[in-house]
This record gives sequence, C-alpha cells and structure tokens, in this order.
Amino acid sequence: MNDKIVKLDITDLAFDGKAVAHMDGKVVFLKGGLPGETVMARITRSKPRYDQAIVTEILTKSPERIAAPCSHVEYCGGCTWQDLQYDSQLAYKKKQVNDCLERLGKLPDVVVRDVIGSVELFSYRNKMEFSFNVTEDGFTLGLHERGHFDRIFDLERCHLQSEDADRVVHWVRNFVAKENIPVYDVTNHSGYMRFLMIRQPKHTSQLMVNVVTNYGDFPAREKLIKRLTQEVPAVTTIVHNQNGQKSNIATGEIEKVLLGPGYIEERLFDSTFRIRANSFFQTNSIQTETLYRTAFDLLHAKKTDRVMDLYCGTGSIGILISPYVTEVVGVELVAEAVEAARENALTNHVDNISFFEGDVKDFLNSKPEERERFNIVIIDPPRAGLHPKALKRLLAMRPEKILYISCNPATFARDAQQIVQAGYELPLVQPVDMFPHTLHIELTAVFYRT
Ligand SMILES: C[S@@+](CC[C@H](N)C(=O)[O-])C[C@H]1O[C@@H](n2cnc3c(N)ncnc32)[C@H](O)[C@@H]1O
Repeated sequence: MNDKIVKLDITDLAFDGKAVAHMDGKVVFLKGGLPGETVMARITRSKPRYDQAIVTEILTKSPERIAAPCSHVEYCGGCTWQDLQYDSQLAYKKKQVNDCLERLGKLPDVVVRDVIGSVELFSYRNKMEFSFNVTEDGFTLGLHERGHFDRIFDLERCHLQSEDADRVVHWVRNFVAKENIPVYDVTNHSGYMRFLMIRQPKHTSQLMVNVVTNYGDFPAREKLIKRLTQEVPAVTTIVHNQNGQKSNIATGEIEKVLLGPGYIEERLFDSTFRIRANSFFQTNSIQTETLYRTAFDLLHAKKTDRVMDLYCGTGSIGILISPYVTEVVGVELVAEAVEAARENALTNHVDNISFFEGDVKDFLNSKPEERERFNIVIIDPPRAGLHPKALKRLLAMRPEKILYISCNPATFARDAQQIVQAGYELPLVQPVDMFPHTLHIELTAVFYRT
C-alpha cells in the first residue's frame, strides 16, 4: 500500500462513478469527489498507466454537491451519487451513453436524447435484498459496503425502500438474535440465515417477506409469522427459500410459503402482474411504465405486426403490447418466470400470446419457418447483452424493426455496432433513469431495417 497524499483537481467522472483527475501525465481514479472539486487524496494503488486513490479531504466543494439524506452514504455499495444533485446525475448518465456509443460502438452520429428522470427520487424500489454476515461480535444484516463483497453493514434506514420495509429489516435482525438462529458463514458454509428479501409493489398494498436460508425447516416459524405480522401489518405473504449451494445468491432451490398466497401483485397501466419470490420484475414500477411507454412510442407497432419478445421474464412487455398487435411470442430461459408469464397472460385475459421456455440463441436456431412471420423483435437482455450466436441468428432473420431495451450501455453499444453494420438504421437512443443515485443506466432504442 502506497500512503502518498496528493492534492488533485477533479475533472470528470468515469463509467464506474469514480472521479477522474490527472497527475504527472497519468490518470488518477478516485473514490469520492466530484468534477470541479479540489481534494486531498491518498494514493492506494500505482500502476504504469494510472493510479487509484481515495479522497481524504475536500478542499473546494463542487456546486453540484448536495447533502445526502442517508446516514450510510459514505460506505454503502448501493447509492454512489446521493450527494450529487439529480440534474447532474442525469447529465453524467447521458454523457456515459454518448461515450459508449462513440468509443465502443463507433456510432458518433446517433442522437442521445436527454435522460428521462425518475418521478420519485426516493422509496422507488419495489424489491430489496439484504445479506446476513457473521462478524466477530455476532452478525450483521444489511447491504454490502462499497467495493467489499465480504462486508455487510447493519442497515438502519434505506431511503430507496419504504419505512415498512425498514421495520421488517429491524424486526428480523432482532428475531434472529433473540432466537439464537445461526447465521450462515460464507467462509466455511455453515450456519442458517443467508438473505432477507422484501418486495413491496407501488400500486397495491401488499408486502412479501422472503427469508433465504441454508437447507432445513425454519425454526420458530409460527412465532415468526405471528409476531412479524403484528409488528408490520402490511406484510401479506411470507416465503421461505432454502439455498444450500455455495453460490451467494438470494434465490432458493426449495420454496415453502409460510403465510399468504406466496406472491404479490403489481399493476402496470391496466394490467396486473403476479410476482413470486424468485421471478424477475423491474424494480422501479413507476419508471417501468415510463420506460415501456417510451419504448412503445418509439416502436410504433401496428395491428398487423407480429412480435417476438426475447428475454421476456414474466412477460410484462409482451402482455402490455399484445392489444396493439396480431400476435406475440415470449422467450425466456427461467422456467419459473415462464410459468409466471403464462399465469400473467391468463390473469390479464390475453389470448394472442404464447411463451417458449429456453435459450434465445436456441429458439432463434429452431424452426425458421415459424419465425419468419415475426416482423418485430423486442430484446431486453441481461447486462451481458446478446450472445454472439443469438445476435447472428437474429440478424439473419432480418426483422423490420428491433426494439432494444438495455440495462448496460456498454454491451448495448457493442451489439448496436453489429446491428447497424448488418443494415439497420439507429436514429436515436432514449435513456430512462430507473435507479436515481446509482450508476445504473437503462435505455431504449429502435433499429429500422434499411
Ligand atoms: C433484463 S430481464 C428482462 C425481463 C423482462 N423483459 C421485463 O422487462 O420484465 C432479462 C431476462 O432474460 C432472461 N435470460 C437471461 N439469459 C437468457 C437467455 N440466454 N435466453 C433467454 N432468456 C434469458 C432472464 O432470466 C431475465 O428474465
């Protein structure tokens, strides 16, 4: 560790939210600090082409800096930008989309529109996941410290969720301590309590508590149900997921419903979606409506169109577009999500949609004669973007329009370059901010066959 303290002028923000300064002809990436600020910083790492540093003191504050409401802001891995005014967050996000398109996609002429901001800046999440972690004094239950996958701090209050959800976190932490339920230790894979997930939709008054543990029935389960619902009456369903795998993810192989129906419902426009513990659903419901409305406006689908909804999750995009087109087919890898998508289609009385369970790249490789009638393809892949084979097969299909919804501008730019090279036009990209105060960027764009 290099302990050199230096004075730096911050000029920019990098893709990962780190501040950028220059020293002796080298770039310095800093934790903390905003453009326009002069800071004292400790160099933590020195590489031939760049240095890394941590801000120790801000000498001149940026006018863009504001007071963050959260007491965990200094170290929480969730919000990086709570102390940056919201307009500036949106401006940096737009710049990053521009940079990706220019540098990674070699598409400098694509118009990047101003980012559509979120209506709610706080309490906008309908899902939060908290981890249990063994410590020297006992255990913690909360969120990851920034940059430390193995450190969890005890959550006091998270401004991205509701006060009911905060109360659930506090109550569960006290319950586990009082009942002496062992916490899972990732170093030797022993212990029981692993994660606490809370889902609370915006448009209905339902609340799901999902406890994820190592294998085995939940001890004191009756007490948990009775007392938690007394303490937080908003709780409508409690689910227990068992995950005995070493991988540190908050999903389970065995699920037991302890209370209520085992799902919660969210409304998007006039449709209702059932969300179960392990199925994907966009986490900012209000902005999801904005994102979908923006995407559909750009797509401008006609009643004669036939639509493929690739990476369809629980079917929300396909179900919402179904009244405006002839037919939709949704494709999704996760069996539980496909099941939920079929259930959602039934609940919403949609009869022109079907779902295929499997990998997009395999779906696009099978039965070409069945795929030819689809003139519109919607893609909403995970952060990694499209698998090269999926992209190649999609382009071989030559649909009239491709609507791309992306949660990663870097992989979007990579895929966009290939789509454009294959004979498509990309006039504009519309970013929509789904996650205020974080570095996440969501965008939508339509490619037109030329
Ligand atoms: C970003 S989510 C989009 C979900 C959905 N479109 C929505 O808005 O709710 C990506 C989805 O792709 C699915 N997925 C990931 N890899 C896949 C693959 N190779 N083939 C099919 N689906 C995949 C994930 O399970 C997840 O549901």
